[in-house]
Amino acid sequence: MAKKGTIEFVCQTCGAAYPKWQGKCDSCGEWNTIVEEKSGGEGFSNFTPKSKGRILDFVPLSGALEKVERLETGIKELDRVSGGGLVAGSVILVGGDPGIGKSTLLLQTCAKIANKAEGYECYYISGEEAIDQVRIRAKRLELDQSPVKLASATGVKDIIATLEKSNAAVVIIDSIQTMYLEEVESTPGSVAQVRACAYELIKLAKKKGFVLFLVGHVTKQGSIAGPRVLEHMVDTVLYFEGERGHHFRILRAVKNRYGATDEIGVFEMQDKGLVEVENPSALFLAERQGNISGSCVFAGIEGSRPVLVEIQALVSPTGYASPKRAVVGWDSNRLAMVLAVLEARCGMNLSSQDVYLNIAGGLKISEPAADLAVAMAVISSLTNKPLPADAVIFGEIGLSGEIRSVGQPNSRLKEAHKLGFNNAITPPTHGNEKKNTSYDMNIYEIGNVQRLINWFN
Ligand SMILES: Nc1ncnc2c1ncn2[C@@H]1O[C@H](COP(=O)(O)OP(=O)(O)O)[C@@H](O)[C@H]1O
Ligand SMILES: [Mg+2]
Ligand SMILES: [Zn+2]
Repeated sequence: MAKKGTIEFVCQTCGAAYPKWQGKCDSCGEWNTIVEEKSGGEGFSNFTPKSKGRILDFVPLSGALEKVERLETGIKELDRVSGGGLVAGSVILVGGDPGIGKSTLLLQTCAKIANKAEGYECYYISGEEAIDQVRIRAKRLELDQSPVKLASATGVKDIIATLEKSNAAVVIIDSIQTMYLEEVESTPGSVAQVRACAYELIKLAKKKGFVLFLVGHVTKQGSIAGPRVLEHMVDTVLYFEGERGHHFRILRAVKNRYGATDEIGVFEMQDKGLVEVENPSALFLAERQGNISGSCVFAGIEGSRPVLVEIQALVSPTGYASPKRAVVGWDSNRLAMVLAVLEARCGMNLSSQDVYLNIAGGLKISEPAADLAVAMAVISSLTNKPLPADAVIFGEIGLSGEIRSVGQPNSRLKEAHKLGFNNAITPPTHGNEKKNTSYDMNIYEIGNVQRLINWFN
């Protein structure tokens, strides 16, 4: 850490510091995100020791566990993502693109908690919008009668002085990038300000035991700091995602000290705000058209839940010297691998074909279990033959073309069965793993991609 008052060059995306300006951040690889900043006043970096350290108490590894009290928000999708409710004194960072619905989600959360019979005090502090703007939203969401305490403020000192005296249960800071402390010389939104403000607010949340939500905009420009510079300071990091033009919104836990990560909550953005989606599979498959080549249904797992999604591929002769590969919602390296396996192990010629891959509905999936579904969609598009509409598929593909088993096959099958699918293409069952055959479904176990092609033809 630099000495107090020295100039540093700090990446606004990841917070890495450099002695000199440079165009690209070595730490996160982003371009043009490095900005000159005066360091110091960061709360945790510039203290002078006043007294000697205290002797630590050591305890045995075993002992009575403290029970974590959880405050259920009543929004089931949020409760599940947070690990079963909000923990007192915990800090939750909610990141996402501007306009995705963070303010909406948090206003709804805050109102829901404030409405509880227990009379929790909920504070919504907006640094971004004026009182009237928040009121208009509250009215539109029909939450204007809820006893939420609303203020428009950006000075962290004022906020802290106010909350010190309060009996707050939940505090929402929307957004951390608008907050400032006079002691820090950088502008609001810079890494130094964002960190210092967050540090002070977090300290108070821990002391007073309220749940603190920090809203953080994800930014591509280097002018304001992204939520990543705060990830290590908070207990839970939730990202709110969605594609423009789609009304689904996914709340994803990427870090959670009090619950599982990779859990997702699914919402739909409507006029009256965010509505929980109880059956995401039905939603993601709603616009699917049967009997079209290049489409197949992948039975995936998101967090603790099975989710069925449609995978679409379009393979068409290329007009370029090197064929185009474009992917939305999946890993492009993974697609390259699947295509290479199809070429090398099955003799398919894809080098003269453009390949487009899309996960319908705007969901981003990261499971290798989708390999087989991707391969199937590509084969179906290339041969212009549709798959049976009532089939689901899952399995990981290895480099030699073998199809590997994936986690939780039975939950995947169960969800597919629930949604009326009659056929499933799956990896072979191994050794002691047991596939539940009590569902009334035809299950085709396929050992390698060559056999998949034979099965399909
Ligand atoms: N009058 C409206 N009717 C329906 N939806 C609206 C209306 N106004 C805003 N929205 C939705 O709310 C979104 C903005 O949400 P907001 O919570 O302000 O996002 P964030 O806080 O993440 O920037 C818009 O993108 C739009 O989808
Ligand atoms: Mg907002
Ligand atoms: Zn960086």
